[in-house]
Amino acid sequence: MSEATIESILQETRRFHPPAEFSQNAHIKSLEDYQHLYDRAKADPQKFWGELAEQELHWFQKWDTVLDWQPPFAKWFVGGKTNISYNCLDRHLTTWRKNKAALIWEGEPGDTRTLTYAQLHREVCQMANVLKQLGVQKGDRVGIYMPMIPEAAIAMLACARIGAPHTVVFGGFSAEALRDRLIDVQARVVITADGGWRKDAIVPLKAQVDKALANGGVPGVENVIVVRRTEQDVYMQPGRDRWWHELQQTASADCPAEPMDSEDLLFILYTSGSTGKPKGVVHTTGGYNLYTHITTKWIFDLQDTDVYWCTADVGWITGHSYIVYGPLSNGATTLMYEGAPRASNPGCMWDIIEKHGVNVFYTAPTAIRAFIKMGDDLPKARNLSSLRLLGTVGEPINPEAWMWYYRVIGGERCPIVDTWWQTETGGIMITPLPGAIPTKPGSATLPFPGIIADVVDLEGNSVAEGGYLAVKYPWPGMMRTIYGDPDRFRRTYWEHIPPKDGQYLYFAGDGARCDKDGYFWVMGRVDDVINVSGHRLGTMEIESALVSHPAVAEAAVVGKPDELKGEDIVAFVTLEGTQSGTEELQKELKRHVVQEIGAIARPGEIRFTDALPKTRSGKIMRRLLRNLASGQEVSGDTSTLEDRGVLDRLREGA
Ligand code: WTA
Repeated sequence: MSEATIESILQETRRFHPPAEFSQNAHIKSLEDYQHLYDRAKADPQKFWGELAEQELHWFQKWDTVLDWQPPFAKWFVGGKTNISYNCLDRHLTTWRKNKAALIWEGEPGDTRTLTYAQLHREVCQMANVLKQLGVQKGDRVGIYMPMIPEAAIAMLACARIGAPHTVVFGGFSAEALRDRLIDVQARVVITADGGWRKDAIVPLKAQVDKALANGGVPGVENVIVVRRTEQDVYMQPGRDRWWHELQQTASADCPAEPMDSEDLLFILYTSGSTGKPKGVVHTTGGYNLYTHITTKWIFDLQDTDVYWCTADVGWITGHSYIVYGPLSNGATTLMYEGAPRASNPGCMWDIIEKHGVNVFYTAPTAIRAFIKMGDDLPKARNLSSLRLLGTVGEPINPEAWMWYYRVIGGERCPIVDTWWQTETGGIMITPLPGAIPTKPGSATLPFPGIIADVVDLEGNSVAEGGYLAVKYPWPGMMRTIYGDPDRFRRTYWEHIPPKDGQYLYFAGDGARCDKDGYFWVMGRVDDVINVSGHRLGTMEIESALVSHPAVAEAAVVGKPDELKGEDIVAFVTLEGTQSGTEELQKELKRHVVQEIGAIARPGEIRFTDALPKTRSGKIMRRLLRNLASGQEVSGDTSTLEDRGVLDRLREGA
């Protein structure tokens, strides 16, 4: 975050109360109601979660124990049997919701489709049977690399239905990144599309899959299922590749949901950390289902008549939890959009809100800042009066962006839920409940009932004025482990702050402070993770990509504040031998990173240098590089610097 943003957040005193009319009809109607729920959950968390699990979900068999907590490993609803696909589909078919729109899809260019619960159920059952016919069994992993089309949700639900954990890889990732993830989960099947639409261009997804699988690149993959979306010619490898629509045509629509153990693996989703390769975050069935269900219900205050729209991509956790599983488990109408605002159609978001009468809209601060730049005229020219609630996620929101969202999009009548959470937490952790909690621009406000959050120092002592965001008690949606690496799970999340009086603290990797009202203000990452337009990227991943280029000897990557993206990537690079850093080479290195990871990781800036600032023990002093990247004076202690001349030369170079 920039100094200016931090400054404006620290001085924020405005407060917005939920409109009385909103509170009257809300699931949680007042601050007292929230406080009561929070206290009840804190006093007896197992009773609280147990009661909710019983009320809100269908179980084939009830659990014996709500929580088995052997820190840092948790099991929720032990012995219970359920199926999230059943909870998202089948149970609505015996109610009036059978013919309600489950999924409204807006595609590019101009394609649309609506699936009722009955229709979605049918397609999911067929795809589940297709997977079975291809030999996929309970426990086998399936890779999903898709554009934002209904088939992405159908594929996820089909996997969940037969107990095959899915790994969705964001369609913007490169073939290399896809291959790494498919190898790590040992996928048997990949589901993809011939292509997808992104800003007026076709993304050649199938060609990327071919590249990832080339020369036995991912040994276990036996089948590739391809959705026909953009209709350009694609290579279909005989015996391996099959068309989705052909398989669906002959598949039976009868496929009962497999009763899954509550702790059976539901999905693995990769996310970046400060060290090493991206981590496969493991989520399991029962706890994740309950947590996404109840957070969706209370935070987005879903009503049966609502059209709900979350603009994330299903390739990220927000898409998993708040486009697919949470809304469908509630029997809601969830909208999915394949496109994004672009020069040729800058008002597309507002058109969709008007066209479908969207009531709840959930997006990212980076998108809001881009909307501001495009001007008030675009939203003002549309009728946005259907909106009753707005949400944000992904990074801290600066108060100016919050105010614009509130005024121009929400017409000063819609509460804003600024939701703090992570891939690892499964669902939203700190957030206003919109009918109950007064908001302050820039604050995610208070913890969800059942979440015991704190701001602590590295000894685990509460330090309200500024420290590390931590969670003190397990919750049903929490990640269970890192796929294949329980040790790394323990080290990364549970050992930064040592257990205090036998109590384990979950370390989120974010800096935060807590004000006198107990409101949380999340300030951003405290580790080597950069948040570019709400996308998490590890500096080390980008550095590895850079040094894999033959011209590069060493690379250090840092974030610098960016008005639009939140942060931008700056790479300091030393070159092999006597090569000189040309503009052409800068371009080439940027292209190389895109090829290795994907366009989201393209450095905004590459600076060549003859050496990197290091300590005498050889550690790169990133703090100094961060100062340099953002054009600030180098601050703090530089006495451990091995060669002080490096700093001067870097300054001159800039
Ligand atoms: C950041 C996205 C401030 C934070 C759901 C976190 C936020 C990381 C907020 C997780 C928010 C997310 N205010 N910061 N409301 N929401 N973050 O795993 O740094 O992609 O650790 O999950 O995004 O990113 P992830």
